[in-house]
Amino acid sequence: MKHTLMPVGEFAARRAKVLAQMQDNSIAFFSANSEVTRSNDTEYLFCQDKGFYYLTGFNEPDAVLMLVKSDSCHSVLFCLAKDPLAEVWHGRRVGAENAQKDYQFDQAFELAQLEDIAIEHLANKCAVYYCRGHQKAFDTQLMHWLAQVKGQSRQGIKAPQSLIDVQPLLNELRLIKSSAEIDIMRQVNQISGKAHQRAMKKTHGGVFEYQIEAELLHEFARHGARHAAYNSIVAGGENATILHYTDNCDPLADGELLLIDAGGELAGYAADITRTFPINGRFTEQQKALYQLVLDAQEQCINAIKPGQTLAKLNELCIEILTQGLIDLGILNGQLTELIADGACKKYFIHGLGHWLGLDVHDVGDYQVENRKQLRAFEPGMVLTIEPGLYFAKDDLDVEEQWRGIGIRIEDNVLVTDQGHENLTTNAPKSIQEIEQLMNK
Ligand code: GLY
Ligand code: MN
Ligand code: MN
Repeated sequence: MKHTLMPVGEFAARRAKVLAQMQDNSIAFFSANSEVTRSNDTEYLFCQDKGFYYLTGFNEPDAVLMLVKSDSCHSVLFCLAKDPLAEVWHGRRVGAENAQKDYQFDQAFELAQLEDIAIEHLANKCAVYYCRGHQKAFDTQLMHWLAQVKGQSRQGIKAPQSLIDVQPLLNELRLIKSSAEIDIMRQVNQISGKAHQRAMKKTHGGVFEYQIEAELLHEFARHGARHAAYNSIVAGGENATILHYTDNCDPLADGELLLIDAGGELAGYAADITRTFPINGRFTEQQKALYQLVLDAQEQCINAIKPGQTLAKLNELCIEILTQGLIDLGILNGQLTELIADGACKKYFIHGLGHWLGLDVHDVGDYQVENRKQLRAFEPGMVLTIEPGLYFAKDDLDVEEQWRGIGIRIEDNVLVTDQGHENLTTNAPKSIQEIEQLMNK
C-alpha cells in the first residue's frame, strides 16, 4: 500500500534551518545509529537515530551528516561504501554517489574518508555543534579529531574553541510539525485505529495476549506501517496495572478488561494509542463506572487544548475530574480541595497526562519554562498524547475488592491547531456504546 511520504526537499529544508541558526564559521555533526546485536551474529531490527533521520531521511547505519557554515553553507553525507559481497549477504546499500543525488546533499563520501575530511573542515572553525552525550562512540571520535586539529597548531591552525550541544536547537525544530509531517501522523493514526478495531473484534476469553499483539502487527503492516512504533502493550486483567507491561504472555479471562497500548510507525512517525475494553464485549457496571470516569477526564482535557494552553493546566483539570469521580465512587473519602491538595488520586493515576509525539514516541522538545512545571504554552503544530489512567493494584487493601486488579488508560494523539486542536485518533472506538457495538456485531 502506497502512502504519501516525506518529500525529499523537506529534509534539505530542515538542514538549511539548522545551518541558518549556526554561528558563522562553524560546523555540525549528526551521526546515525549502528546496528545492535540481538544474538550471536544476528541484529535487532534497525532503527535510525531520529534526529539524524529528521535531517537526512537516510536509513542506513553508521552514516554521519556534516553541515559546514563558512563563506557558503553545505551539507555532506558520509555513508557505507557500495560493496557487492556485503550487499549479497546483508542487503543493498545506497552508496555515496546515489545518496548525494537522491537525498539532495551537496556532497557525499564513503565513510573511509570521514576522518580526513572532518579534520580538514574542523581546522580554523570557531565552533562545533554535535549531540553531546548522545552517542558515546561519536563523542570519542570527535575528541580524537579535535586533538588532531590541535596538533596542527605549529602550522597556524586553530581548533574550534566552542563545543555546542546542538540537541536543543534540533529538538525545537522537531517539536513543531510541518504539514507533511502532520499528514503522515494522520495516516499512521488511521492505520493504528484500524489495528485497535481489529484487536477488539478478535478478542475473547482464552485467547493469549500475544495472539492479539499479532493481530495488531498484522493490521499495521497490512496498511503500510510495517512495524510497531514501540513494543505493544497487550495487558489483560491485572496485567494492565503494570504500566509498561510487554510480556504479553497470558491468556485473556472472560469478565476482565484488556488494555492495549499500541501504535504503528509510518515513515518514521509514531502513533501512540491506548484503548481498554471488556474481553467478553460487555462492560460490567463497575468497569463502566471507572471507564466512563477516565473517558470524561480524557475528553475534557482534549477539548481544552488550544494555543496558549499548558500541560500543567490540563494535568490540574484531569486531577480535579478524577478526584471528584473517585469521591463519587466511594474510592476516595474527603473534601475535593483537600484531596487535590494532598495529591490523593496520584496513587491511582501514577503517570503524566501526556507527552510530545512525533518521530520518537516520547518525542523531543522542552516541557518546562520554569522549574520543573509543564508550563510551556502550546503552539500550532505541536502534537501530544492525552492519556489519563486509573490503576488499582491487586493487593491494594485501601480499595474495595471490586476495584482491585483493574487498570484503565485511554490515549489519543492530538494536534494543536490555530483554532484549537485536531484529534488525530478518530477511528479507534472509545465510547462504551461504540466498543460494545463493534465487539458484538
Ligand atoms: N506507549 C507509551 C506511552 O503511552 O507513553
Ligand atoms: Mn503515550
Ligand atoms: Mn501509549
